[in-house]
Amino acid sequence: MDQMVNIALPKGRLGEQVYDMFREAGYECPDLMEESRKLFFENEEKGVRYFWVKPSDVAVYVGRGAADIGIAGKDILLEHQPDIYELLDLGLGKCRMMVAAPEGFHDNADMTLRVATKFPNIAKRFYAGKSRDIDIIELHGSIELAPLLGLSDVIVDIVETGGTLKANGLVQIEEVLPISARLIANKASFKFKTAAVERLTEALSEIVQKREGKE
Ligand code: PRP
Repeated sequence: MDQMVNIALPKGRLGEQVYDMFREAGYECPDLMEESRKLFFENEEKGVRYFWVKPSDVAVYVGRGAADIGIAGKDILLEHQPDIYELLDLGLGKCRMMVAAPEGFHDNADMTLRVATKFPNIAKRFYAGKSRDIDIIELHGSIELAPLLGLSDVIVDIVETGGTLKANGLVQIEEVLPISARLIANKASFKFKTAAVERLTEALSEIVQKREGKE
């Protein structure tokens, strides 16, 4: 049986930080950071095979077993609830899911609150927990525009530096949840490649602890 561990890395800056952690943990793959259009790389000696995939698709690859493990944001995991194991919080890609609104916004509890978001399930659960009646307006980007154009009252979106909100005259109202990148595993892979996956998780966990100790 193929004992190589197939790893779905999220393409982009987060993926590069994640790969850096794998490299530090002893799972380097020298040609991976080379400028090229290639999307998969392997280091047979280390038993790893990496794929660059769109960040929001990592959980799909892992959920269906096309990748044994991968790195996905907690936002995606909570929104889509894929049937995977969450093995480790990598402490990378930290940001917050927030409710934001135009400055001066006042919530009128007698009215249905119109919420624009890329994360309808997270937003629905958040407001259900507060028994607040809402109308979800699902968008796929530039969420900050919605309240400015009267399409929604508030937005539920990811805030990292706060720069996008500020540039559009929006302010943070309340936190929905904190977010960070998680190491996830396919359930069958975890069963059949236990030793390899656990060794990798343990090595990454040591790096996370070392880095957190330095913070
Ligand atoms: C995310 C998010 C915000 C922005 C927050 O969007 O939806 O718009 O980043 O970052 P900041 O607090 O540092 O400004 P993304 O860049 O993923 O683009 P999108 O609008 O296409 O989703």
